[in-house]
Amino acid sequence: MSDQRTEALENARKNKEQSLKLLETFLSIPSISTDLANQPDMQRAAYWVAAQLSGLGMQNVEIFPTTRHPVVYAEWLGAKGVPTVLVYGHYDVQPADPFDRWQTGPFEPTVRGENLYARGASDMKGQLVAVMKAVEAIVRSGDLHVNLKWLIEGEEEIGSPNLEAFIAEHKKLLACDFALNPDAGMIGPEEPTITYALRGLAYFELRVYGPASDLHSGIYGGVVHNPANALAELIAGMHDAEGRITLPGFYDKVRSLSNDERAELARLPMDEKHFLEQTRAPALYGEAGFTPAERAGARPTLDVNGMLSGFTGAGSKTVIPAWAMAKISMRLVPDQDPADVAKQFHAYLEAKALKGIRWEVTEMHGGTPSISDRNNAGVRAMAVALESVWGKMPYFRREGGSIPVVAQMQRVLGIESVVAGFGLPDDNVHAPNEKLHLPTWYKGIETFIHFFINLGS
Ligand code: BES
Ligand code: MN
Repeated sequence: MSDQRTEALENARKNKEQSLKLLETFLSIPSISTDLANQPDMQRAAYWVAAQLSGLGMQNVEIFPTTRHPVVYAEWLGAKGVPTVLVYGHYDVQPADPFDRWQTGPFEPTVRGENLYARGASDMKGQLVAVMKAVEAIVRSGDLHVNLKWLIEGEEEIGSPNLEAFIAEHKKLLACDFALNPDAGMIGPEEPTITYALRGLAYFELRVYGPASDLHSGIYGGVVHNPANALAELIAGMHDAEGRITLPGFYDKVRSLSNDERAELARLPMDEKHFLEQTRAPALYGEAGFTPAERAGARPTLDVNGMLSGFTGAGSKTVIPAWAMAKISMRLVPDQDPADVAKQFHAYLEAKALKGIRWEVTEMHGGTPSISDRNNAGVRAMAVALESVWGKMPYFRREGGSIPVVAQMQRVLGIESVVAGFGLPDDNVHAPNEKLHLPTWYKGIETFIHFFINLGS
């Protein structure tokens, strides 16, 4: 067994160049799930994943259509008396705009220095290929001593709207001991990390309408309410002076942090300086009474993700716009529920009752927050694997981002996820010049090798 470990690790080291090439082919498929124009690319990406899994010797490889983007399933169940791990991944990515901010094309993967630049490099095609490459290295050096199932979806970046129903419909097919979810990152390149909590999400588009058409701001300014002003007023009112969210009942179900957990979070290398360096913002902001690590992982937030109204071209135009729009989302923590938050959002807008303004809310998508068990066979195998590669025990952190499937699997399959991946905080995920730090990625492949071999020994 330990020989196989050594051999698999050597195999992976010899194949670095090939691994990189393979990742580059995956990254050149613009699998943007939110954009209908990319539908054919989504199909291509799903087939690419299925073909890779077949190539690894996985069986019953199947592409299941959904109403939007297909789910790829595969399995290898040839080992006896060892755990069955469900590997989760997503082959979709976020849109790549603003394009003029990319140094090289988002779908033309390019190595500069120690990094590979492309949309999806870190989130999460790189993480998925790392698991594939680990399995390949093990298979090339002997038998797998763990059973594998794979669930690779194409809708994570749009909130996994069809996945819960898919999981419920295929409960038997997906039965397993626990899931490996590599859709996450580390606190820093020298800080091995296991994520034990994820925030949820409630996402809305808010449109406000005023006059029937754009108006001359001289002739009509001062006699009708300006939708852009009104939208700004509504948004400004969503926080109080302490940085708390004012939607009625918003904090009712927020689970408070125990003193123990607060002490633990305080020990993470995520202080004010860390966040100032990572964001290059002139100052931090947030809810009074909580540290940045708490605010980013264990407290809910409300953010405008985009706004549109009126004249935004070059020069000036004196106009009262007829409408204004904002994309607004809230990150949720246990035990908040996206459906409750939708009601609270409506209640807030109704209570404001701006005269002369009509509003419309579209609910985009949601996701339930989750907290995972930190003491099961999967987490222990991962902690030991991380220690083998980095030479120190991992940090346990709460993640501010969302991965809806973790709560879905808890709810429907009754299983926990080991959430550990090898993204870094400066990877520019969802932003221009997304990148993957290759030395960390290679260590990630080695970690997954240790993880699977630990589970079989
Ligand atoms: N991989 C991310 C989640 C994540 C972000 C983990 C940062 C660790 C660090 C995931 O793909 C993602 O971005 N999810 C979306 C989910 C949403 C659309 C429901 C997110 O968090 O915005
Ligand atoms: Mn992801």
